[in-house]
Amino acid sequence: MNSIGKIACVGAGNIGRAWAMIFARAGYDVALYDTDRSALNRAMTAIRAGLDDQARLGLIEDASAVLRGIRPEPDIDRALNGVRHVQENVYEDIALKRRVFAELDQRAPKDSVIASSVSSIPVSQFMEDLPGSRRCIGAHPVNPPHLVPLVEIVMSPSTSEETYARTAALMEAIGQVPVRLNREIVGYVLNRLQFAIINEALHLVERGYVSAVDCDKIVKHGLGRRWAFMGLFETNHLNASGGIREYYTKFGPTIASMLNELFTTPHPIGPEMIETLAREIEAETPAAQVPARQAWRDRQLAALGRHLAAMADAEKAEKKP
Ligand SMILES: NC(=O)c1ccc[n+]([C@@H]2O[C@H](COP(=O)([O-])OP(=O)(O)OC[C@H]3O[C@@H](n4cnc5c(N)ncnc54)[C@H](O)[C@@H]3O)[C@@H](O)[C@H]2O)c1
Repeated sequence: MNSIGKIACVGAGNIGRAWAMIFARAGYDVALYDTDRSALNRAMTAIRAGLDDQARLGLIEDASAVLRGIRPEPDIDRALNGVRHVQENVYEDIALKRRVFAELDQRAPKDSVIASSVSSIPVSQFMEDLPGSRRCIGAHPVNPPHLVPLVEIVMSPSTSEETYARTAALMEAIGQVPVRLNREIVGYVLNRLQFAIINEALHLVERGYVSAVDCDKIVKHGLGRRWAFMGLFETNHLNASGGIREYYTKFGPTIASMLNELFTTPHPIGPEMIETLAREIEAETPAAQVPARQAWRDRQLAALGRHLAAMADAEKAEKKP
């Protein structure tokens, strides 16, 4: 494969190795760095298996060609040499993120972007005070990143517009889908939406309105069917022949009275709640079968991705809708 540029992935755990595969399958030369040499070895073993899986799932053609684009690199300066983008994926620990970002800002080429996969620590807490804070940004993937394309791009108060534009363009070029979060917010948007629904579901299950398994059926056979290709507001738009204005005018009062009834307090997730959920969910999939079920999930995601890509190509050929 011809390299189209150099990328460094810093931290070779679950997320770092997934990013390495994503950049390499798009044609980038990836240096995968970790302070723990055994983590690098484990990562390369997992990457080899992961790329074979992706070839079987029809996501890449030649697993060995992609593998050749990923270099395990125990030396930070060699890893950063000539890169245009650094993707940081170390443990979720504020002191560690601060240390690593200070080091990356000092050592990475001055014209490179430094992005963090951080999930819960506000990016400003470890990017703000750096001399190169303008080139630092959050780029939060969704698990498993090589099968779920969304990336939440999070601006810290000092991130420059140029850094945003370069990061978003790179994400698009590698087949991910960037969305822009203009300001930091705890949990970002995907997890806030997810846990708003989960909170309501916990209340409903605990009060006995519906079982946990039926709640999952409601999402997978109902909401999720539409959400895989439409989203919340386009769903509203298509639920009235005159579109979203008609939808909210017509159904506004009913929606408002239901919103008043929603459970707004955070449901405690103590041992009893966990036991209730686990009893039901483990009856469907025992905990020992989780790895096999994860492989099933990945096959489903890959098949869905192929279907959606084929539909998008057909629409492009015929012009929307
Ligand atoms: N796992 C997820 O579902 C998920 C999803 C989105 C974002 N994230 C975020 O991605 C980041 C990484 O998560 P993960 O699940 O891959 O963690 P992980 O525990 O699997 O891997 C972390 C890696 O960082 C390495 N490391 C520690 N200190 C280092 C240093 N100074 N320099 C280089 N490498 C170092 C460790 O050796 C380890 O290999 C976290 O910030 C996490 O919140 C995780």
